[in-house]
Amino acid sequence: MHPDLRSLPKAELHLHIEGTLEPELAFELAGRNGVTLPFADVDELRRRYDFADLQSFLDLYYACMTVLRTERDFTDLALAYFARAQADGVRHVEMFCDPQVHAGNGVPVTTVIDGLLEAFAIADERWGITGGLIPCVVRDQPVASADALLDELAPHAHRLIGIGLDSAEVGYPPSLFERVFARAGALGLRRVAHAGEEGPAEYIWQALRVLGAERIDHGIRAVDDPDLLRHLAEHRIALTLCPLSNVRLQAVTGLDAHPLRALIDAGVVVTINSDDPAYFGGYVADNYAAIAELGLGTADLAQLARNSIDASFASDERAAGLHALVDEWTATHG
Ligand code: HPA
Ligand code: ZN
Repeated sequence: MHPDLRSLPKAELHLHIEGTLEPELAFELAGRNGVTLPFADVDELRRRYDFADLQSFLDLYYACMTVLRTERDFTDLALAYFARAQADGVRHVEMFCDPQVHAGNGVPVTTVIDGLLEAFAIADERWGITGGLIPCVVRDQPVASADALLDELAPHAHRLIGIGLDSAEVGYPPSLFERVFARAGALGLRRVAHAGEEGPAEYIWQALRVLGAERIDHGIRAVDDPDLLRHLAEHRIALTLCPLSNVRLQAVTGLDAHPLRALIDAGVVVTINSDDPAYFGGYVADNYAAIAELGLGTADLAQLARNSIDASFASDERAAGLHALVDEWTATHG
């Protein structure tokens, strides 16, 4: 990879911390916690990284999450990610986590939040990385479970950026979670949602109109709906794209079939992210490098980094500071 893509300052807005669990750490935590993984070793686990679709990935992702038990586990996991992110030029992270899945493994929501926020504090001190947490509603669990999650999150609302929506998409339309997202909004949480990854453009409309989402995660199926493209562009509603994820989960037939260019040409604000980098063959700079191969030049790549700042929930002051870093980068690389 061109080393300049690592030094390009950027924000990462679509990152599931559980999706950064590398096989070596999974086995280390399994040993530490007395959990038996259903794979003989790191090599066997890595051989399973061959996905037909979103569900086949989620099955493995949830299986590996059983090794995460203590506050320290979550801190260690996130610090391993931050070290890689720092090396990839990431300066600000809005991080997803799946507390309902951990609750199912007997881990309290507070353990997850405290462990991850401890890593944020260390990353800020060590590397000046800013950001925060966006717990996600797991959409293939019952709505009552999402309501219970909101009850648990309420006392922590001031320590969180927002609420998200993830997991198996088709058959679980955003509209199911209208009340849950209304409650989250009333708690002062920013709202984002995965939509249009495998599901239709209609799910993106629902995420915007029914859930009040301010940003759409993936959203690639917007290319099927010209009215939606106009709406996204006009209102500057950003999409958090994850090109290597889409290829690995066969949401697109290949990188050359990715709608990135069509979305940019339609005037949509798009950002580049890694989703679940341990599973999809690359962290965020690898995603920038992959799309650079599609013929994007230095100015286009710098614009994508600027988009990640503008689409973030960073304060105006922090955003200005991040833009100044991109200015410096373009002055030497542009
Ligand atoms: N889509 C939906 N749910 C997820 C994903 C994703 O890409 N990654 C982790 N949970
Ligand atoms: Zn995702």
